Amino acid sequence: MRRVLALAFLLPFSILVAPVGCKKDPPKDPTTGNLVLLLPESKHDPEYSKDCVSKLTVDGKDYSEPRGTKRTLQITTTAGNDEVKIEFSFWPQVYTNIIRTKQIKIVGDKPIEVDLRKEDPANPDLIKPIYVPTPAAVVAEMCKLARIGKDDVVFDIGCGDGRLVIQAVKDFGAKKGVGIDIREDLIKLCQENAKKDKVQDRAEFRAANALEIKDFSEASVVLLYVGDDLNLKLKPVLQKTLKKGSRVVSHRFLMGDDWPPEKSTTIMAKNNSGTETEYNLHIWTIK
Ligand SMILES: C[S@@+](CC[C@H](N)C(=O)[O-])C[C@H]1O[C@@H](n2cnc3c(N)ncnc32)[C@H](O)[C@@H]1O
Repeated sequence: MRRVLALAFLLPFSILVAPVGCKKDPPKDPTTGNLVLLLPESKHDPEYSKDCVSKLTVDGKDYSEPRGTKRTLQITTTAGNDEVKIEFSFWPQVYTNIIRTKQIKIVGDKPIEVDLRKEDPANPDLIKPIYVPTPAAVVAEMCKLARIGKDDVVFDIGCGDGRLVIQAVKDFGAKKGVGIDIREDLIKLCQENAKKDKVQDRAEFRAANALEIKDFSEASVVLLYVGDDLNLKLKPVLQKTLKKGSRVVSHRFLMGDDWPPEKSTTIMAKNNSGTETEYNLHIWTIK
């Protein structure tokens, strides 16, 4: 009886409300406009690597050619839409790929200037340094510099094949290691490598975009080899969320002028091709 009463009460109300809330605007016709795009420089060099080439798309359609820092495009939106999504994938250095996006409304006849030289706060950049493994001897020096011991939880942000995390738990006795990488294929490789080294119970690997992680408080040590751009993006999150006394050790890359390392050291070691090479390592302690 109670259910019948409730239905009797709700039915007229839903009839009144539903049609208003569900009503959709009729689809708009496609809109055509001219975009003047100001683009950041890209350090691509097709000879060096075919993948390191800038790519420009609008609503998924490729407009990469001819390459330049100023492009004028005539764009027609899809039916029912007056906005387009511009995506520019570029290389500020040969080791970092940045994917910058912007949503633009096509209105009026005048050309619309779109500046993609700076990140749009409404559409944060995706920053993706390439995969280059740190030689084992350098990993050992990073672990020593971080003073890794049995009480440490060691994070490697951008962990590649997992070698830093694996060495930290296997050779330096860290309580736990966590590797994070945006590439799922590498995370699988990390898991296989941890099994081979029999440390899978203390080494965890997560497929994630580091830029979407807003809390690193689980870590007492953070190891990094991810380029200037990603370091600078990670800096505020590390400073805000790491506990006092936590250490950050970076292979090669710094954290900007406002957070100088407390110590930097240079070591010699063989690179991945066997050539004796200079390596710079830096450490910061959270105060
Ligand atoms: C230079 S490699 C370093 C690998 C490993 N840490 C080492 O030193 O051997 C950088 C790694 O960061 C990963 N990476 C790139 N962009 C990332 C992102 N936004 N979030 C998480 N990992 C990322 C890459 O896939 C790559 O494996």
